[in-house]
Amino acid sequence: MQLPYSSAHPFPLLLAPMAGVSEAPFRQICRRMGADVVLSEFLSSEAIRRRIRNTLEGAEFEEVERPIGIQIYGADPNAMAEAAGLITEHYQPEFIDINFGCPVKKVVQRNGGSGCLRDLDLVDRIIRAVIGATHLPVTVKTRSGWNDELRDPVSIALRMQEAGARAFTLHARTRTQMFSGKANWDEIARVVQALDIPVIGNGDVATAEDIVRMRDHTGCAGIMVGRGAFGNPWLFRDGRALLQGGARAPAADATERFRVAMEHARLALRLQGDNRKTVVEFRKHLGWYTKGLHGASELRQRLFQVESMAEAEAIFLEYLDPVTAVA
Ligand SMILES: Cc1cc2nc3c(=O)[nH]c(=O)nc-3n(C[C@H](O)[C@H](O)[C@H](O)COP(=O)(O)O)c2cc1C
Repeated sequence: MQLPYSSAHPFPLLLAPMAGVSEAPFRQICRRMGADVVLSEFLSSEAIRRRIRNTLEGAEFEEVERPIGIQIYGADPNAMAEAAGLITEHYQPEFIDINFGCPVKKVVQRNGGSGCLRDLDLVDRIIRAVIGATHLPVTVKTRSGWNDELRDPVSIALRMQEAGARAFTLHARTRTQMFSGKANWDEIARVVQALDIPVIGNGDVATAEDIVRMRDHTGCAGIMVGRGAFGNPWLFRDGRALLQGGARAPAADATERFRVAMEHARLALRLQGDNRKTVVEFRKHLGWYTKGLHGASELRQRLFQVESMAEAEAIFLEYLDPVTAVA
């Protein structure tokens, strides 16, 4: 099944949209490490319509990030259409993705994100309104339903396809599950069977082996990785190697991890501002890059307190070579 945008591989690996994480610096790192497609964090259509600066900044990206989708959410079809038009005109991404999956209370209370899953007529109107406002392909991302009672991903997916969605990503959990339990990959397989448009599988891909397992289990057209990429952008490269039947490269050692962490940090300073806010928000990434290293918890405690990227670099250097660093 052909995706509505071109990517380096016919079976693309996508970086999931993740608020506070899938920002331009991390997107660029993941693209360098083999992610074929990236998405922005979800952006409020109301805020875009009102030209709120912070939100519009979330739609900015650099050429190296292409192919990229900008993700928008909201429960008002008019606002969604206006936002899609503005994003198309000013940012020209490869596609626009509609978020029907966000479980966060503040969003669903106003029927945004997965809140829409309680009203599929509204979902239909939103998709049609967005398609009417842009020449770009419009894709959708959703969960398996609002709760166990309303869990019916196939009907939801068919409805979205009928409204004109060009690709469908399923995070196979309900809204009420939030992140508990396991994503149900059987549901992804069922949706793949039922739809004509490409289905992208998402949920609980933590290793390169999981990428192959999800493809084989579901027959999906591509795989989207979220939390598994935290501090581990190598997952895309390793997943690609296994998909192609090759051997994966040796796991990134501490030196390689710190090198990429600092590359990521420099991108953050350049793209998000050389200031304390950028450093504070970057601390989580620093912590994630240490996962699994000997003495990681102590290292993380120190990294969570850094006030500058130079301080983080000094901590890394000391870890790699305690004798020289102290001398
Ligand atoms: C910190 C965080 C932020 C997220 N923000 C978004 C978002 O902005 N838009 C969206 O569609 N999904 C968002 N998600 C959901 C992910 O895109 C993905 O569907 C989910 O994490 C399951 O995939 P995973 O098991 O690979 O992490 C977010 C998830 C996390 C952990």
